[in-house]
Amino acid sequence: MNTVAIIGSINFDIILGIDRLPTAGETMPMNSLSSAGGGKGANQAIAAARSGAKTAFIGKVGADDYGKRMLSILEENDIDITKISVKKNGQTGQAYILLQESGQNSVIINGGTNLEITTSDVIQAQEKIKEADFLIAQFEIPIDRIVESFKMAHENQVVTILNPAPAKKLTADLLKITDLIIPNEVESQMLTGIKITDEKTAMESAKILQKKGVKNVIITMGSLGAYYMTEKNEGLISALKVDAVDTTAAGDTFIGALSSQLNKDFSNIKEAIEYATNASSITVQTVGAIPSIPTRQEICDGIK
Ligand code: RIB
Ligand code: NA
Repeated sequence: MNTVAIIGSINFDIILGIDRLPTAGETMPMNSLSSAGGGKGANQAIAAARSGAKTAFIGKVGADDYGKRMLSILEENDIDITKISVKKNGQTGQAYILLQESGQNSVIINGGTNLEITTSDVIQAQEKIKEADFLIAQFEIPIDRIVESFKMAHENQVVTILNPAPAKKLTADLLKITDLIIPNEVESQMLTGIKITDEKTAMESAKILQKKGVKNVIITMGSLGAYYMTEKNEGLISALKVDAVDTTAAGDTFIGALSSQLNKDFSNIKEAIEYATNASSITVQTVGAIPSIPTRQEICDGIK
């Protein structure tokens, strides 16, 4: 089983169920109010750990209620939390998720302590990075910390996975030290300029990302499935048809589950993507990020 290190965000998610987004000046009622653990980094770590990977987290929370709750959720899921620093007077990250009747969601983030991860936090986590097979990062923390940790990973033959979410401009120095990039179709379009509508446009997008300097690409495309391109092969894995009630953390589940299965040389990428696709199809069937992420057993059974 793989060892996975994740440097990333930890959020407490507040989920507002609404019919539709309000227009400017409008006041409207919500249909439901709930909360759940979340944050792209935390979700990916939970997905990896629930699939059996030995998982360590590098990040930061505040010494507030949300921080305490998130630390205990991560620990209960067998995630190594020794490299999550706790900032006195810091505010743990929060996400306000506007979950619309259509199943679509719009998210407003208060980055909080996720934006305060320091170089010294990365250096102190060196031992966890070194012993990992994979190091995974997303864009809810400072990009400089990703660059520093990916460099450390490469000095130690650790394979780096970048989830460029939420989308931001990619810098050449980061692309050079990324072994596998996993955007969704929207992030891919922001990075390549190509709107993905089918396998052909996915292939064109992957080729552009490879030209930018990343050798291995997986584009997750919701109901269109996932397209992959490595140095050796490429292909489309179709999505399962399910009734999605909340897509929050579907992409995170995919990435965490994938990292638990993938060989470091990507030789089993097709099988790993199939497994990850099954995992995220379960996540979308219940509301909330962390509570909806399945275990290995649930993925094999196909139901939570
Ligand atoms: O990817 C889903 C996550 O994005 C949510 O859990 C929310 O915290 C935001 O960070
Ligand atoms: Na969900």
